[in-house]
Amino acid sequence: MNIAVVVLAAGYGTRMKSRIPKVLHQLAGKPLLEHILSLSSRLSSKQTIVVTGHKGYEVIQSFKDWTIDWIQQVVQRGTGDALKVAMPHIKSVDHILVLYGDVPLIQFNILNQFVQSVPKDALGLLTTHVSRPHGLGRIIRNDTGHIIAIVEEKDATPEQKQISEINPGIYMIPYSKIGKWLSELTATNEQQELYLTDFIANAVRDCVCIVSRPISFPNEVQGINNRVQLANAERAYQQCQAKHLMLSGVTLYDPMRFDVRGKVKIDPDVTIDVNVILEGEVTIESGVTIGHNTQIKNSTICTGTKILSNCVIDSAKIGMRFQIGPFARIRPGSHLHTQAQIGNFVEVKKTVVGQGSIANHLSYLGDAEIGKGVNIGAGTITCNYDGANKHKTIIEDDVFIGSDTQLIAPVSIGRGASIAAGTTVMKDVSPNQLALNKKKQQHVENWDKPKKKAFSKKDTKYKF
Ligand code: UD1
Ligand code: CA
Repeated sequence: MNIAVVVLAAGYGTRMKSRIPKVLHQLAGKPLLEHILSLSSRLSSKQTIVVTGHKGYEVIQSFKDWTIDWIQQVVQRGTGDALKVAMPHIKSVDHILVLYGDVPLIQFNILNQFVQSVPKDALGLLTTHVSRPHGLGRIIRNDTGHIIAIVEEKDATPEQKQISEINPGIYMIPYSKIGKWLSELTATNEQQELYLTDFIANAVRDCVCIVSRPISFPNEVQGINNRVQLANAERAYQQCQAKHLMLSGVTLYDPMRFDVRGKVKIDPDVTIDVNVILEGEVTIESGVTIGHNTQIKNSTICTGTKILSNCVIDSAKIGMRFQIGPFARIRPGSHLHTQAQIGNFVEVKKTVVGQGSIANHLSYLGDAEIGKGVNIGAGTITCNYDGANKHKTIIEDDVFIGSDTQLIAPVSIGRGASIAAGTTVMKDVSPNQLALNKKKQQHVENWDKPKKKAFSKKDTKYKF
């Protein structure tokens, strides 16, 4: 395949009404342009060029790790002009595949088949039918059904506006013809721009074969010009992800309330309740159930684990048959082993929790290594930060930590030790010891309990 890819992304994006360049707006958790560049990188093209313009430096900055030739279109005079600006920088190829930066949802397989199907010297374009073609370029065909032109909405006659077949903006243009066709573009149209779409009529005139491929899923080629279209595209993308997962054996209680913002690998027989967001690279093994309102990012959840509602899990590995939540937060670098439990209002950061250990209520476990069979009482805090540095807490197997305990790190609690409720642990505790440092409990005889103040007249307005 001897192609160069040119992505047009210089437009003002006026209809987005935003300070952010349109191609940096996010769809499924990544910028629109990233969707297109990811496709392009899989096509093994000779070169990828992106034409930027409006706030181009911000766009370039966001993709500084990518191998891309950036071209600046200083004044935005239309899609034809954008290609004209790029042309001197394009290597000699058979075809230039032109993609628009605001049409991000085309599937790789469809695009690749299209690219492969266009013979040398032919012009290729995708088309599709939509129920509401307003604002889009219409495909004009002659009496024999051959494509003869594309007419933009603003230049279309009332009859042409009735046409439902539209131009998604994905073309394979024969390199040998581009120079001539670019030199012939004029801005004699309603928008006074150089239209790339005029190439179609030029091809007909020059007897260049036009290969068109109809797409049956218009959602895949919808353009994003405003935030309503952005939201529609997001839903279309999410529905597609949800459908794919359900057909591969995943139960989604409501596919309309499920979001994937990254790459997920989910085994069959995983059950996901509503409003679950999966971000980055997430692997979920079979038999896992996930409660509603849960966010999981860059994590692996092993077989049979139960995640109750309202949990946030980030960059962690959760072992088999684990139980988390409700309302638990697992932060980066945590590894929770088999059959353990992290309960409500427990925050875990950069901590290993050994097999069968339990921290069921209201705790902070940070920079800790917790062995097997440990019981962490409610309100336990690993005090890992001294104001300047972070320190580690080590809790060996079978330790019992009573409620309301502070473990001042660095500190270690030996195997089988117990910590009495309310203890502030400042020194290491040896195996099997009991540590306690509460004041001795005092008893005061005949204690005069505080009494409720009687209501004065002034207070009556607060009475119910
Ligand atoms: C364009 C097509 C229209 C098609 C629709 C599909 C033209 C003339 N019209 O219309 O037929 O149905 O897309 O979504 O091509 N751009 C530049 N430089 C410019 C102008 C635009 O790089 O000077 C880029 C934009 O950033 C955008 C793309 O080209 O990514 C398309 O431009 P846009 O203004 O959105 O064209 P549409 O009106 O959507
Ligand atoms: Ca557009």
